[in-house]
Amino acid sequence: MTEEFISGPLRVDQPHPELPQALTDLFGRVTVAGGATGFTATTELDTISALGGRIVEDVAARPKRRHLLIMGQERALAGVAVLRPATLPIHAHRGEIEWLLVDPELQSQGLGSRLLDAAVSHAQALGIAKLQLTTRSGQGLEDFYRRRGWTESGRWPASLRVAEDDLRDQLWFTRDV
Ligand SMILES: CC(C)(COP(=O)(O)OP(=O)(O)OC[C@H]1O[C@@H](n2cnc3c(N)ncnc32)[C@H](O)[C@@H]1OP(=O)(O)O)[C@@H](O)C(=O)NCCC(=O)NCCS
Repeated sequence: MTEEFISGPLRVDQPHPELPQALTDLFGRVTVAGGATGFTATTELDTISALGGRIVEDVAARPKRRHLLIMGQERALAGVAVLRPATLPIHAHRGEIEWLLVDPELQSQGLGSRLLDAAVSHAQALGIAKLQLTTRSGQGLEDFYRRRGWTESGRWPASLRVAEDDLRDQLWFTRDV
């Protein structure tokens, strides 16, 4: 798959039956490449596929508990952004970009930026006024978000165990929509 043939970003409204597997494959590929997925090199495949299933259930729920923007095809994903509106009444104007992932072979071609922009626009369309996301230190991700209009709003030093001897800071980024 080369960038010029990759469609999207598209919002998934009626998930394809192969979407859970495609999500599991993408999360797996990005995790193996060292990407910030929340999983580690030793995570069981079942754990990742359970997440793929949960995301699709939440996308299919009425009202949606999660919103999914994709690039590529539902059965062969190039990248995804997962947006989760908050649920508590005092958070009703807030949402979180829970995941932003691009296939390791397709990174640095602008797909991640397009997915992030699409997620922000979709949040706006949903009436969300404030967005948050969390990320990790040590991979250049702080700069990626700062350059795209996000503000660092908190940092918990050495609180993520990426590997037995590799502790990273967790960072909170926020922006108004
Ligand atoms: C972070 C990520 C979503 C960016 O997507 P992308 O398609 O590579 O990004 P774009 O091509 O739009 O933009 C390239 C930018 O990403 C940065 N970048 C590219 N690959 C990267 C990587 N593996 N890790 C971190 N940053 C990366 C580049 O430095 C560049 O930054 P700049 O334009 O501000 O100089 C993608 O690299 C990825 O999926 N990484 C692994 C998972 C991850 O870390 N997700 C973020 C969780 S918070």
